[in-house]
Amino acid sequence: MLTKKLKDYAQGGVYPMHMPGHKRHRVGCLPLELDLTEIYGFDNLHHPQGCIRDIEQEAARLWQAKRAFMLVNGATGGILAAIRAMTSPDDTVVIARNCHQSVYNAAELCGVKPVYCMPDVIDGTDIYGSVYPEMLDMLLQSTENVRLVVITSPTYEGVCSDMEVIAAICHAHGARLLVDEAHGAHFPFHARFPQPAVACGADAVVTSLHKTLPSPTQTALLLTNDRGLAGELQRQLAVFETSSPSYLLMSGVEDCLTYLKNHDFSEYINRLDTFYTNAKQLKKLRLLFDPDDDNRCNIDAYDWGKLVITAYGTNISGSELARRLREDFQIETEMSSAHYVIAMTSVCDTDEGFERLLHALLQIDRTIQYFDKELTSAVLAELPQKAFEPHESRSRRAVTVPFADAAGKTAMEFIYAYPPGIPYIVPGEVISQSVLEQLVQLLSNGVEIISTIRQLPQSILVADW
Ligand SMILES: Cc1ncc(COP(=O)(O)O)c(C=O)c1O
Repeated sequence: MLTKKLKDYAQGGVYPMHMPGHKRHRVGCLPLELDLTEIYGFDNLHHPQGCIRDIEQEAARLWQAKRAFMLVNGATGGILAAIRAMTSPDDTVVIARNCHQSVYNAAELCGVKPVYCMPDVIDGTDIYGSVYPEMLDMLLQSTENVRLVVITSPTYEGVCSDMEVIAAICHAHGARLLVDEAHGAHFPFHARFPQPAVACGADAVVTSLHKTLPSPTQTALLLTNDRGLAGELQRQLAVFETSSPSYLLMSGVEDCLTYLKNHDFSEYINRLDTFYTNAKQLKKLRLLFDPDDDNRCNIDAYDWGKLVITAYGTNISGSELARRLREDFQIETEMSSAHYVIAMTSVCDTDEGFERLLHALLQIDRTIQYFDKELTSAVLAELPQKAFEPHESRSRRAVTVPFADAAGKTAMEFIYAYPPGIPYIVPGEVISQSVLEQLVQLLSNGVEIISTIRQLPQSILVADW
């Protein structure tokens, strides 16, 4: 076991004439005495044959994949490597438009041509719903030679797509399927969560251990059931990941897997059940997901571990709700938008944590009023027109213009809200008057809108034709 080996080694009296420079002395709060490099006996992440291979094999067993790669560069590193491994320059790739920034960065970097699949919005919200298999099927029928399809499931808000049907459709059209399951690392550990994408036939899946499981920040997995693809995935991981992976992070992954083997998720499920039952007392605030309601519009499945609390139809915004939770009840949430707040839960939450959140929401609910307000949409109403492919922006001349004058011009940089990191505008897309107005409205509602070179809201880089 890696963690045990690190601890034994730290006590073994071997003098370190090697990296890292802290020489295993603690200089702050990090346990640097366990922070090694690839010295004799400690394997190599990019060519694992010993203790690192054992961790990857255990992860593959837990996720029921043929091969698992441990990632220390976040889900981002895995997404970049997977897209590069499954495409060649100029390939057509179908991307669900609600994918994370890392997917778009990969598309630009790999020189592929993205074609977007636009999920519908969930009724009465500004949240993207599932990717419908029929919609994807039609897109694949009308688009020639699609090499790869990239879908995010679950989304940041916990919305899932029917991965089994989607995988079958992709394969019927000769395309591979990559699923960004960054927010669904806990799915294999209880039947009340959606099925993990790797079990549904996805060719490659990236899942982020640190988001919903007890694993250190930056740790993730890349999973595949395709042994033929595994070699190229490994090669591309060596391109995008550091050649000096942190042993502290890898030991953290091993500890997480040991925890998963020894922990039953049923207590967590009971806590969620109790929370959702008690939350029915809320009158004005509302939970987006209701496990008792099968009548869901534009959602195929969802992760009910994500508590999406909407304040729409009340006199407070999502950001105000987050502020009250923080200042009046000392509860910090994951994210807030104009209309909702996301509270992320995990197997490590306590009864007390769930009770505090419920108590706070009930208290706030009593003090707010119903209010008929317009929904300020944070999602794209329609796909922007494409003037050129994202990667072509690298070889074009750019000019900076005031943001207010950008309508009709072609963007040379990304514009997105973070979180969730989904772009409104991709390099090569024409900035329409309506998107410009939407961005101005979101900015005035306190939503953080950023661009690649971070000069918004003053100016933006556009093509100088
Ligand atoms: C859906 C999704 N995919 C990928 C990522 C990237 O994950 P990481 O920051 O761990 O690299 C994120 C980050 O928030 C995300 O929300």
